[in-house]
Amino acid sequence: MLSNKIVVLGVTGSIAAYKAAELASQLTQRDAKVNVIMTKEAIQFVSPITFRAITGRPVVTEMFELASEFSIEHVSLAEAAGIVVIAPATANIIAKLAAGIADDMLCCTVLATKAPVVLAPAMDVNMYENVITQDNLSKLKDRGFVVVGPVSGRLASGKKGLGRFADVSDIIGTICQVLGRSGDLAQRRIVVTAGGTQEPIDPVRYISNRSSGKMGYALAEAARDRGAKVTLITAPTLLSHPVGVEVIHVGTAQEMYQAVKGNISQIDALIMAAAVADYRPAKAVGEKIKKREAGLTLELELTEDILGSVKGDFVKVGFAAESSNLEENARQKLREKKLDLIVANDITVTGSGFGADSNQVTIIDREGRIDSLPLLPKQEVADKVLDKVAKLLSKS
Ligand code: CTP
Repeated sequence: MLSNKIVVLGVTGSIAAYKAAELASQLTQRDAKVNVIMTKEAIQFVSPITFRAITGRPVVTEMFELASEFSIEHVSLAEAAGIVVIAPATANIIAKLAAGIADDMLCCTVLATKAPVVLAPAMDVNMYENVITQDNLSKLKDRGFVVVGPVSGRLASGKKGLGRFADVSDIIGTICQVLGRSGDLAQRRIVVTAGGTQEPIDPVRYISNRSSGKMGYALAEAARDRGAKVTLITAPTLLSHPVGVEVIHVGTAQEMYQAVKGNISQIDALIMAAAVADYRPAKAVGEKIKKREAGLTLELELTEDILGSVKGDFVKVGFAAESSNLEENARQKLREKKLDLIVANDITVTGSGFGADSNQVTIIDREGRIDSLPLLPKQEVADKVLDKVAKLLSKS
């Protein structure tokens, strides 16, 4: 998504300026070309050399003193930009942009660019909550600027409140979302499920499985980055909430069933990557079960087959984790659950499937076409699945 994209990163004079170095680093590691513009206040906090070393590219600090690569006009940076990101954005730069003031290189670049602009404000809570700052931010949002954060927490002043620089991962998520706005899933509504459901035995114990949720979260983020409006229905996982995605948390298979049923009217695709428990304890006990000499037998009952029972005019994608007869079992699930696509993986392959960062999958469609992919990072598997979803949607 970010490969070879030109990101103009504006750094302004906030104590959070050092965090922009991490942002620049992560963008560079994803092969973005990061051109940093620092205001003179920012230079008081972090040296331009830091950004020069991290990005491997010239850093612009003063108007009319441009590095040769950017030619002599300030507009050249603005024209080359795929996106402009001001992180951290102080109350001062927000006020200047809202007023259309162009007295430094960063303001000039923002005025001269046609690229989308993302702001990550960072400042004292009182400055942020001040009606002047809020008015300025609403004005900028109305003009199409995208704002990420700030978040609540401890501030440089020692106070607690709204004003902290957003997480770097959320800023990158927002950049990807903005860059993908007119992707091949633009205007599409997609529901993705993720994680392993938990079926209570008593107040402290449950039956679950080894699903980490990574495949479902990767699908939700990849769909977001292709322009889709995504709802992620997730069983408990250790993963953080993907920015720009509506997240619904559930525990049991029954809760996931209710959440899916309640969110599929007018969707374009349902992708069930969750590992839904097939059985739950027939009666969950209200008190903790005590150890006894005799063994313990749990009576289990079937849960609802979510994918097999929901109906609607949308593309239905299922997953099948198999330990034997991969193709045959996957084809049977595709048929019985009336799916458009099934993504099957062999759980005996090392480095693939539950908990891993990669997956080796075989995708089968309704016409019986089969696509066996090599072991790939889950983000790439997500894009391969979405390529097929987008193709099916373009025909409908
Ligand atoms: N699934 C579902 N509801 C369930 C169980 C599974 O919606 N109660 C979905 C899964 O999210 C997945 C697909 O159905 O997309 C296949 O899941 P899997 O557990 O492999 O299928 P089962 O039909 O339960 O078959 P198995 O006997 O292999 O467990």
